[in-house]
Amino acid sequence: MAAVRVARLDDLQAGRLTRVEAGGMRIVLARVNDEVYACDEVCAHQGGPLSEGRLSGVRLACPWHGWMYDVRTGECVMPGRGTRVASYPVRVEAGDVWLEVP
Ligand code: FES
Repeated sequence: MAAVRVARLDDLQAGRLTRVEAGGMRIVLARVNDEVYACDEVCAHQGGPLSEGRLSGVRLACPWHGWMYDVRTGECVMPGRGTRVASYPVRVEAGDVWLEVP
């Protein structure tokens, strides 16, 4: 795992999604209140861009067919077939957002 600085916390709006790249991967950041979560940006269904989806609380809906993920874990909660996208540990230090990526 490597730590990669991907954003400033102040640049992430609560309730919004932001696409970043780290470790050669597309990752979506979701700011929920003062917490930031990070998941793979590519939907496990047919590859939709999750950063263009809709965030409601901790639920992220894919823009293509509406599969919903819990951004805290990357688990698909609807249709809920045990599918998931990878999620990555996030830490905020001195206003910088760091990801731990493989
Ligand atoms: S590609 Fe995401 S729900 Fe189909």
